Amino acid sequence: MKNYSEYPDFIARFYDIIYEKVRTGVDNDFFVNKASRCKGKILELGVGTGRLYLDALKKGADIYGIDVSPSMIKVLHQKMNPAERYRVWVQDAVRLETDMRFDLIIAPFRMFSHVIEIEDQLMLLNRVEEHLNPGGQFIFDLFIPNLRLLQEGINQFRDFEGEYEKGKKLHRIVSAKSDLLHQITHVEMTLGWDEGGEEVTKTWHFNMRFFFRYEIEHLIHRSNLELIKIFGDYSEGELGPDSNDFIVLCGKGTT
Ligand SMILES: C[S@@+](CC[C@H](N)C(=O)[O-])C[C@H]1O[C@@H](n2cnc3c(N)ncnc32)[C@H](O)[C@@H]1O
Repeated sequence: MKNYSEYPDFIARFYDIIYEKVRTGVDNDFFVNKASRCKGKILELGVGTGRLYLDALKKGADIYGIDVSPSMIKVLHQKMNPAERYRVWVQDAVRLETDMRFDLIIAPFRMFSHVIEIEDQLMLLNRVEEHLNPGGQFIFDLFIPNLRLLQEGINQFRDFEGEYEKGKKLHRIVSAKSDLLHQITHVEMTLGWDEGGEEVTKTWHFNMRFFFRYEIEHLIHRSNLELIKIFGDYSEGELGPDSNDFIVLCGKGTT
């Protein structure tokens, strides 16, 4: 069974425009600084269209990337110098396989929520461990479940309105319904945009797995990685009532 969602072309096409508005300033500095301060090789799992990756590369990081969605890698390749394109390729992180070993592996912006099945989650964590150098680190983030939203869901919320080119409108409408028993949120994302004088709309359905704090701790404990800390924000603050994200820092032993 496919345990991830490949992003369709129309989502990849407008990803940068939407997330530049809704995500800039949240996690950029944290991940880009981690990557650019790392002296060795870095790998980003779920590199997407390079929202964080390209800044890290520009700052001199020796960074590589994989993504399961060919649509996202295509957009990223178009933005890269052709001589650097070998650094990113299509691959499922659950089946990560390369001869390279890394000092840092990151999976930003809830990439891990796309991995639905427990055996795949464990396989991903163990593949990461195998691809880290001794003493290397793995950092990923997950949203902290909001109990009210889980219960009530989201009904046709228009969370983005803008232009993708001068005079050409783009909007996004999101609905979400959660299955509390299986800890899965079913998301429906509709984009509408002007094309050739008409409005086009397309809808994508996908699932996201949500995680609670002690589940993450147990999961990592079952894997070959060691849990170092779960932070509650991108300034490495403690988890607290105002935290929106789990920022999970894991390590590989030095022996
Ligand atoms: C929310 S996007 C984040 C993209 C980028 N890291 C960012 O911060 O903008 C999640 C990405 O994870 C990718 N993804 C989902 N499941 C994956 C898997 N099993 N292996 C590799 N990539 C995966 C998706 O294709 C998507 O590009």
